[in-house]
Amino acid sequence: MTARTKIVAGNWKMNKTVAEAISLVEQLKKDLAAFSGGEVVLCPPFTALASVAKLLPTSPRIQLGAQNLHPAAQGAFTGEISATMLREAGCRFVIVGHSERRRYFGETDAFLREKLLAAVAAGLRPIFCVGEELPDRESGRWPIHLRSQLQGALHGLPVEVLSEIILAYEPVWAIGTGRNATPEQAQEAHALLRKEMEILHGASIASPLRIQYGGSVTPQNARALLIQPDVDGLLVGGASLNAESFTSILLSVE
Ligand code: 13P
Repeated sequence: MTARTKIVAGNWKMNKTVAEAISLVEQLKKDLAAFSGGEVVLCPPFTALASVAKLLPTSPRIQLGAQNLHPAAQGAFTGEISATMLREAGCRFVIVGHSERRRYFGETDAFLREKLLAAVAAGLRPIFCVGEELPDRESGRWPIHLRSQLQGALHGLPVEVLSEIILAYEPVWAIGTGRNATPEQAQEAHALLRKEMEILHGASIASPLRIQYGGSVTPQNARALLIQPDVDGLLVGGASLNAESFTSILLSVE
């Protein structure tokens, strides 16, 4: 089995003013000064990216990510931000296809595919999110749903793009609900995603692929999730907004 470096990302969603972001990052830098458990990515709102970038060292243990991008290089897309702009702001990562973008902003697999291409072309590593809604979990149709999301966005993408992707399994019923997937449910879904990637793109893509789990991750459940063989990291929402809880999650990586 390929050794995969764990990667934990904090998705701040629409939270934190610039001042609040700076104070959180300053605290995290202190708390994580001796941390060596893997890669850490912070995804603040757009308005805080440049200020947070200034606080992070140039060969960082903590790296910067954005929560969204538009696939076009530039142009008349009011309110949107391009991959090049994110790179310029200091980002190395970008979340693509979060269920909140799919649900509230109507983002389709085909559109997400364009975002993946644009992100990698600009030098950003996409954190590509998939995950089923509750009815698909309860009816047992979740594997069909996950396969369809993978195929819909990733079908036929070149190896140079696929090899930059980090996958995030975020069951929609677990996001912000306090009801996380059990470690067994997460492992089962991650193994299925890796198998499907192998079928679609071969073992050379699937085996090193890192798959994060996201959905009601807390300091209490992080370790049990992370020790699953196919759980290569976490995508943390609410618990990443507080230095103490995010640090405690990160320390469970070590
Ligand atoms: P919570 O950790 O708040 O459930 O959010 C998960 C998530 O959506 C991360 O992208």
